[in-house]
Amino acid sequence: MNILRVGDSAWAAVTKSSAFVFGLEAAGEDSRVVQWYWGPRLPDEALAEVVRQAPRRIHSGFHDPRDVDELLPVEGGARWGVPSLQVTYEGGVRSVELTFAEAVVSDSEIELVLRDPLGLRVGLHVRVASEVVERWVSLTNEGEHAVRLGRVDSGSWVIPERAGYRYTGVAGAWAQETQLHRAELAVGETTFTSRTGTTSHRANPWIMIDAGDATEELGEVWSVALAWSGSWRLTAQRRPEGDVAVTAGFGHDGPTWHLAPGESLLTPPVLGLRTCGGYGAASRAWHDYARHHVLPTPFEERPVLYNSWEATWFDVHEEGQIELARRAADLGVELFVVDDGWFGGRVDDRRGLGDWWPNPDRFPRGLSKLFDTVRELGMRAGLWVEPEMVNPDSDLYREHPDWVLHYPGRRRDTLRHQLVLNYGRADVREWAIGWLSGLVSEYGLDYFKWDMNRSFTQAGWPDAGERADLLWIEHTRGVYAVLDTLRERHPGLRIESCSGGGGRVDFGILRRTDEVWTSDNTDARDRQAIQEGYSYLYPACAMSAWVTDSPNPHTRREVPLAYRFHMAMAGALGIGGDLTRWSAEELEQARSLVAAYKAVRPVIQHGRLHRLAGDPGITASAVQYSHEDRVVVLAYNPFALAKRPPRRVRLAGLDPSAIYESAEGERWHGQTLMSHGLELPTWFIAGPDYRSEMVVLRRVSG
Ligand code: DGJ
Repeated sequence: MNILRVGDSAWAAVTKSSAFVFGLEAAGEDSRVVQWYWGPRLPDEALAEVVRQAPRRIHSGFHDPRDVDELLPVEGGARWGVPSLQVTYEGGVRSVELTFAEAVVSDSEIELVLRDPLGLRVGLHVRVASEVVERWVSLTNEGEHAVRLGRVDSGSWVIPERAGYRYTGVAGAWAQETQLHRAELAVGETTFTSRTGTTSHRANPWIMIDAGDATEELGEVWSVALAWSGSWRLTAQRRPEGDVAVTAGFGHDGPTWHLAPGESLLTPPVLGLRTCGGYGAASRAWHDYARHHVLPTPFEERPVLYNSWEATWFDVHEEGQIELARRAADLGVELFVVDDGWFGGRVDDRRGLGDWWPNPDRFPRGLSKLFDTVRELGMRAGLWVEPEMVNPDSDLYREHPDWVLHYPGRRRDTLRHQLVLNYGRADVREWAIGWLSGLVSEYGLDYFKWDMNRSFTQAGWPDAGERADLLWIEHTRGVYAVLDTLRERHPGLRIESCSGGGGRVDFGILRRTDEVWTSDNTDARDRQAIQEGYSYLYPACAMSAWVTDSPNPHTRREVPLAYRFHMAMAGALGIGGDLTRWSAEELEQARSLVAAYKAVRPVIQHGRLHRLAGDPGITASAVQYSHEDRVVVLAYNPFALAKRPPRRVRLAGLDPSAIYESAEGERWHGQTLMSHGLELPTWFIAGPDYRSEMVVLRRVSG
C-alpha cells in the first residue's frame, strides 16, 4: 500500500523513506488541493499530524494567497504565482474555478477529481514508483464549447521551508551538454525551458533543491523531473515570504492548445524525489527508478558497439564499412553500427534525408553483403536513421512538401539543410513505421541509432486549423508511437536516442530506448563534465560513450588511448575512431581494454554509482560502481602537477567490516577504504597529463 488515507480528505503517498502528504484544504467552489508535507517517512499514525497543523498557517486574506502550496495552482481567483493551469473559456473567461468532486483511490494510485462548472474536468493523479512520486494531470472538456489551454503543467511541488535554498541543474549547448550548475535560488521565478520541440541541449528537465547545506554524500535533496522529450518549462518560484514551489510541464510559453467538447488531454508524468544522503543518494535513487520503472531493458548488458561516424563521416561505402567491421570484431566489438551516409543520395548533409533505401552507388548489393559479413564476424547489426527529417533535395520532399512543419506563405527555414516532418500526422507516422520496420525485417537489424538534428521553426500545421499548436505535443507523441510500434513488432530491436548529440535525453525517451548519445563531443576530457551532469539523473547503462581518435576531430586535443577508454568505460562502451589508422600497439591495447571492460561490465552498467572526490575534467576525480561483490573505481587525472591530486581516493558505500581484495591480492577493510582511502600509484599523482586507472576490488569476506 503506497497511498494511505490520513484524514477525511487527506492522503499520503509513501515510499520506503519518504512521505508526500496532500489533500483538500478548502472545499466548495474554491476547492484547493494542497501539499502538506514532503519529507522523511513518518510513522503511519503520525502522518495525520502534518495535516492537523496546516490551519495554523497565517493567511492575511489580502495578499497572501498561498497558491504556492497547491498541487496545481490555476489561473483564477486569489492566486498570483506561476499558474500550472491556464484556461480560456468561451467568451474570453480566464478564471478557472474548481470544485472538488471525488477521490478515486486504489492501493498504488489516486486521482483527485475537480470540476469547473464551465465544463472542465481536472484529474490530479498521484502514484508511487520506488522512491519516486509520479504525478500527472488529465483534463476533459465536458462542456459544450471548446476551451483553449495556455498552460497544463503536470504538477507543482512545494519544497519545505528552510533557511536557504540552492538549486542544482544542468545547462549547455551542442558539444557541451549537461554542464552542472549550482547556485542559490534567487527570490523570484527561475525558469528552465526548451522551445526547440526537443528536450534540448541547452537545459534538461530536472532540478534538485537543497537548503544550501547538501554535499555529495550528505544532506536532504528534493528533485523534480519531467518525463518528456518535446518542449517543456520548469519554473522554481521562491516567494519573498520564503516558500519555494516548482511547477513543470510540457510545452513552452506561447503556443495554446485547443480542447474541443468531449476531448481529453493527458500530461506526461512529473516526478518528485526526496532523498537524504546528498546529491549522490539522489542520483542513485533516480538510477534505481530508471531501472525499475523507465528503461525497457534495464538488466540487459549493453553490447560494446562500433560506430563509423567519426571514421568515415559521409564517406560510407560497402568496402570501407566491411574493413572497419573486420577491425572492430577483432577488438571484441559486439555490435556494428553504420552511421549517416548509407542511403538515397546522401553523400553530404545537403541531400537525401527522407530517401531511406541503400545508396546504389555505395551499396550496389544493398546492405545485405555488409550485414551478412558483420554477422559472420560475430557482431550484431545496427543502422543510423533520422526519421523525423527531410532534405528539400530528396524524393520524399518533392513528393510530400506538405509533410513538414510550415505555415502557408511563410519561409521554411532550413537548418543543416533540413526540415522537420510533422509526426502529428498519421500519414507521416505510417510512412515511418513502414520503412523502419521494413529495414529491420529485410536486414535482420538489431539496433537503430535514431537521430534528430534540428530544432523546430515555423512550426505550423496548416491542415489542423485551431488544433495546429497541438503539434508541440503531438509531434513528440508521434515519435513515441512510432518507437513503441517498432519495439512491439520487433521485440529484439534495441534503439539509441540521439539528437545532434545529447539533445534528447530524458525519462520520456528512456521509456522506449535503450541508450542515449550524450554528446557529439567525444573528447575524453570534455566528456568528463558532460558525463558527470548526465549521471545526476540517468544511469550508466544507458549512456553510450565512444573512444575516438587522438587528436580528437572536434577539439584537436591529444589524449592517451587508456584515458579515452577509461572515460568511455564509465558507461556503455563504444568505439568510434578510424581503426584503419590505429597502430598495431593501439589495436592491441584496445583489445585488452575491451576485454577488461567486458569483465566488469555488469558492475558498471548495473552498479550503484558513487561520484568520488574531484571536479571532473578540471582536477583529478574518480567514479565508483558497486554491484554484488565487486567494486570498480575509475580514476582520472587530467593534469600533471599543476593541480596536485590527493594521494588516496576515499571509496564510498562499502560494507565497513567486509574485506575487499584487489586483483593483485592486496586486502583492505571496507572501513579503511572509506576512511583512509585507496592508495593511488605514484605515476597517477606525478606524471604527464591524462593519467587514468581502473581498480577492481572483490569483497572476499564479511
Ligand atoms: C549527429 C549525431 O550526434 C552524430 O553522432 C552523427 O550521427 C551525425 N548526426 C550524423 O549526421
